[in-house]
Amino acid sequence: MEKKIKVAVIGCGTIANSAHIPAYLKNDAVEIKYFCDIILEKAEAAVKKYGCGIAIKDYHEILKDDEVVAVSVCTPNNMHSIISIDCLNAKKHVLCEKPAARNYSEALKMQEAAHKNNCILNIGVVNRFNNAVRTIKSMIDSGEIGKVHHVHVSFRAFRSIPGIGGAFTNKDIAGGGVLIDWGVHYLDIVMYCMNDPKPLSASAEQFIVLGKDIKNYVYTGMWAEDTRDVNGVYNVDDSITGLIRTNGPVISFIGAWAQNVNAGESYIDFLGDKGGIRLHYGANFDLVVSKNNSLIQSTPVFKGNDHFIEEINCFVDNVKHPEKRLPSHIDTVIITAKMMQGIYDSAEKHEEIKFKD
Ligand SMILES: NC(=O)c1ccc[n+]([C@@H]2O[C@H](COP(=O)([O-])OP(=O)(O)OC[C@H]3O[C@@H](n4cnc5c(N)ncnc54)[C@H](O)[C@@H]3O)[C@@H](O)[C@H]2O)c1
Repeated sequence: MEKKIKVAVIGCGTIANSAHIPAYLKNDAVEIKYFCDIILEKAEAAVKKYGCGIAIKDYHEILKDDEVVAVSVCTPNNMHSIISIDCLNAKKHVLCEKPAARNYSEALKMQEAAHKNNCILNIGVVNRFNNAVRTIKSMIDSGEIGKVHHVHVSFRAFRSIPGIGGAFTNKDIAGGGVLIDWGVHYLDIVMYCMNDPKPLSASAEQFIVLGKDIKNYVYTGMWAEDTRDVNGVYNVDDSITGLIRTNGPVISFIGAWAQNVNAGESYIDFLGDKGGIRLHYGANFDLVVSKNNSLIQSTPVFKGNDHFIEEINCFVDNVKHPEKRLPSHIDTVIITAKMMQGIYDSAEKHEEIKFKD
């Protein structure tokens, strides 16, 4: 029987328990050797719940264990670069949750460590494993909607904000707000489907408005509600808007964790000269094509999949075959980190910024 690949999960919070751990457990080629969390009780709870592994508090123990070949980094954003770089330097392959890091410079250091150690560094841009997104990419690649001149991205929620006052809304920990937390998925889908057009300039504005009064913030739903802290910090964008010029399509975007409009508007419009696609984020997509002087509208049927399971299965396969490149490899995802940095820089300066090569 083939020896199982030993992995460690670092950070045993929401995403680890809802996605990484269950997906590893379903993969017969893998054994979880460590559950690590700075709050030891969370690691211990995982050992108890899943009936395997060793609970530890300090990820440095994993670095010393040669049996562990791969890790999932599922901590808040401030620890992504530190833990990933340490693991890469200890010759472990890494799947680090999105965003790659709090800023572009940290993400570049992670990329450098992956290259230096000849190890895999994949980022949890899980939509690249989503069959709806893959189908759209192949339609765009095959020219079905013609030349795409404009992509419009909307990631807006009615009165949400994840774990207000906790790690998600503290700039030192998260690096930013709705753009870095949620917009990263949308921008990443655009870059993936459009084959990484080169960003030329960004012009953006951000707003730190609705979440500021943490104590009195009224919400309708909230990711990570258990980490909400009414005495915590709120200094990140709860809404953001802007425009990125690229050597491909123009990308316009509007995002809000919290808006005073009772609608969740989560979609990406790919506007081409022969047709258009609206991807309903996390679901299906609508297609319009003009053919023979008529407009044909459809909602294509495709085989749905659990993209978190697929992401982990692909990562495990990648560990066995490091020469393969996954679509979530740092070398492609880094461009999204660059774009987000440009957007935040522009918003802070209130002026357009040009991207350097
Ligand atoms: N791919 C997705 O769609 C998706 C969804 C949600 C969250 N995320 C990302 O996953 C990450 C974690 O988010 P979450 O919602 O699970 O947060 P969470 O707060 O629920 O979990 C994070 C865990 O990391 C632990 N931790 C912090 N520092 C640590 C350290 N130095 N060593 C070990 N453990 C440490 C915390 O104690 C906590 O248990 C974030 O980067 C977030 O952006 C991705």
